Amino acid sequence: MLPTNIRRLRRLRATSAIRDLLQQNHLRAEQLVFPLFVHEKEHSEAIPQLPGHKRLSLTDAITLAKECLELGIKAFAIFPVVPSAKKDERGSYALQPKAMIYNVLSTFRAQLPQAVLIADVALDPYTTHGHDGIWNPQLNDVDNDATVEVLQNMAVLLARAGAHFVAPSDMMDGRIMAIRTALDQANLQHTGIISYAAKFASCYYGPFRHAIGAGTPDCPQHSTSIDKRTYQLNPANCREAVLECLEDAAEGADVLLVKPAGHYLDIIYQVKQRTLLPVAAYQVSAEFAAICSAAEKGWLDKNLAAVETLLSIRRAGADMIFTYFAKDVAKLLLSQ
Ligand code: PBG
Repeated sequence: MLPTNIRRLRRLRATSAIRDLLQQNHLRAEQLVFPLFVHEKEHSEAIPQLPGHKRLSLTDAITLAKECLELGIKAFAIFPVVPSAKKDERGSYALQPKAMIYNVLSTFRAQLPQAVLIADVALDPYTTHGHDGIWNPQLNDVDNDATVEVLQNMAVLLARAGAHFVAPSDMMDGRIMAIRTALDQANLQHTGIISYAAKFASCYYGPFRHAIGAGTPDCPQHSTSIDKRTYQLNPANCREAVLECLEDAAEGADVLLVKPAGHYLDIIYQVKQRTLLPVAAYQVSAEFAAICSAAEKGWLDKNLAAVETLLSIRRAGADMIFTYFAKDVAKLLLSQ
């Protein structure tokens, strides 16, 4: 090693142009996926837990997506907000071809043909208890295999409605192969699967659950801190998360997703080392909300925090990132 008076690494940081020249990771709008919440009402309403985001009417969702496309964002993850009256224990409404999400997807597909549409596959918007699967009171747990059957049918409906990717976020065992088989049998070979492969039982999903109105207020099991630990991963475990990813890759996933992102950079890194598939990460609702509320207090700069956290997620190895900052960051990138 050279003595420190000869090796001066700070030479590489001396000017803004030199720093730009040597920057190793970048953010681009086209790597970002913008989550959108769409409800059945004619007017959009603010989501207090997700500052700047709304439960959108279909018309407003299309307008917003158009603006995003102009900023270079190409992909949207669309989540339905389902009225309590349409929810039941089994999430049956998810398989009604008339359910709003199918109309939303086909309208997006027709009006924004250049957009990439990602549709979530899980029952939580549709169940009274807010679990991602069918609840079996005898087991006191979700019924894995019964849920997978419903998800297969749901994935086919979502693909037929126009989703380019279905994104199972439910963490049931065996669902990737089951969904791939169902899509292929329905002649939907071109629809991809973004698997929420390493999804942790995190406390960082609260604002999302408020946004979709998870469960129904009168359901005794329901709360935004609903316990999903029998299917989502233990935040203490890394090897188990990598194993989930390898399993989903073997079952036919096209993209592997790690969620949350910012506190799970080691998982993103390790998955990236072990697969040649694209890796996605989801900077989830409370990662976003925590930054927003600290910024509101004047404790950090929101834009800088957005860019720093997203760059860290890229540095760890994510090829694409789902983030509520997508639009803000895309604007920022254009202004630079
Ligand atoms: C559930 C789902 C969740 C999120 C995306 N899909 C919440 C959960 O698992 O309870 C959370 C995303 C976020 O917090 O931004 N299928």
